Amino acid sequence: MLTLDTRHLEPHISAQDLRAALPEAAAALRSLLRREGPGADMLGWLDLPKAPRREIELIADTGKRIQDTSDCLVVVGIGGSYLGARAVIEALSSPLERSPRVLFAGHHLDARYHRALLERLADVDYAVNVISKSGTTTEPGCAFRLLWDDLECRRGADLGARVVVTTDRARGALRELADAHRLTSFEVPDDVGGRFSVLTAVGLLPMAAAGIDVRALLAGARTMMERLRDPAADGVETNPALAYAAFRLAAFAAGRRLEVLATTAPHLGCLAEWWKQLFGESEGKGGQGLFPASLTLTTDLHSLGQWMQEGPRIAAETALDVVEEEPLAIPAMAGDRDGLGHLTGRAMHDVNRVALAATLEAHADGGVPCCRIEVDRLDAAGLGALLYFFEYACGVSAYALGVNPFDQPGVEAYKKNMHRLLGRP
Ligand code: PA5
Repeated sequence: MLTLDTRHLEPHISAQDLRAALPEAAAALRSLLRREGPGADMLGWLDLPKAPRREIELIADTGKRIQDTSDCLVVVGIGGSYLGARAVIEALSSPLERSPRVLFAGHHLDARYHRALLERLADVDYAVNVISKSGTTTEPGCAFRLLWDDLECRRGADLGARVVVTTDRARGALRELADAHRLTSFEVPDDVGGRFSVLTAVGLLPMAAAGIDVRALLAGARTMMERLRDPAADGVETNPALAYAAFRLAAFAAGRRLEVLATTAPHLGCLAEWWKQLFGESEGKGGQGLFPASLTLTTDLHSLGQWMQEGPRIAAETALDVVEEEPLAIPAMAGDRDGLGHLTGRAMHDVNRVALAATLEAHADGGVPCCRIEVDRLDAAGLGALLYFFEYACGVSAYALGVNPFDQPGVEAYKKNMHRLLGRP
């Protein structure tokens, strides 16, 4: 269901380079599983696919209630408090509409966006899911005020029926607000950080409200968890997360400073954003970590492709290759005057996959070590498996670099300055 193809690493990363990275990656994997590395109190995400049935039923039921009683849900959150849900919702929605029943707010401070959102909501019966583990983040805080004001002051809505809070079990302003107004609320577990929280209510509730089968998603994650944590899966041949972590480690050791995730469809763009946050915020510490960037093929081959082929040789590339075919074939055209007669009857998805194979060959020839992650399909179960795969590989990879994947001290710098400049008491 998920395989790693490392054929295009050579000669930039040799089999010997990979073998050299393996002991560190394997040691990191052991630290993760024995819960003895830095931030070991934040490893709750490892077991999330086994979440109790009762909890999942509650999330699924609340999602269904929102679907039945509201025209749409506005998810308010930033970073790990929205990216996972958005990635899955967009991956499973119509590519032209992205996420018609779920809108997002508070993931930046742009006034024009939030004004447009309020205008769009003017005639809409909507619900809000405000998500913040700390309950004190400025961006979602500002957006939530706008929506609260709209619901309470302008519409006189029953807030208890309209607002669902996802936050810390006991601490923070949002918890106090939820208690004071008796709002439906979900907890972000103490031992799960924002960017590892997609399989908690943080990600699952918005998904359920979008009509996604969260049980199937968790089942997919569970299958991947069992595969990666099988004690016999201790080598690169048996454990794709270990192999991927070893590739990333070898790439960094070989002087690569960027990892570009290439996807082949625009509806996977937000999945790449989630991946960027996961690896960027987890690894970018103490001068370590590949800078995570992304490409959408083949669109970006007509812009950034030139840089990939001939720019500074500082990037490694990981491509996400989805096997499952979309039923759309290239039709015939009388006379074949467009020169594309050889494609008549060929599945468009197949052409896209050939373009991916051609790209990896070209980039490898041009000096970029490329690895290909092949997945059967990206339905709810496939996405659950892929999310868990990346989280697990990220934990291993960060431990191998010697950093704590579960903190983000660097994020505080801009916040402190912003609070000072805004005169926060
Ligand atoms: O991964 C993380 O911990 C961060 O990206 C947080 O998710 C983000 O800063 C939002 O934090 P909060 O949920 O406390 O509002």
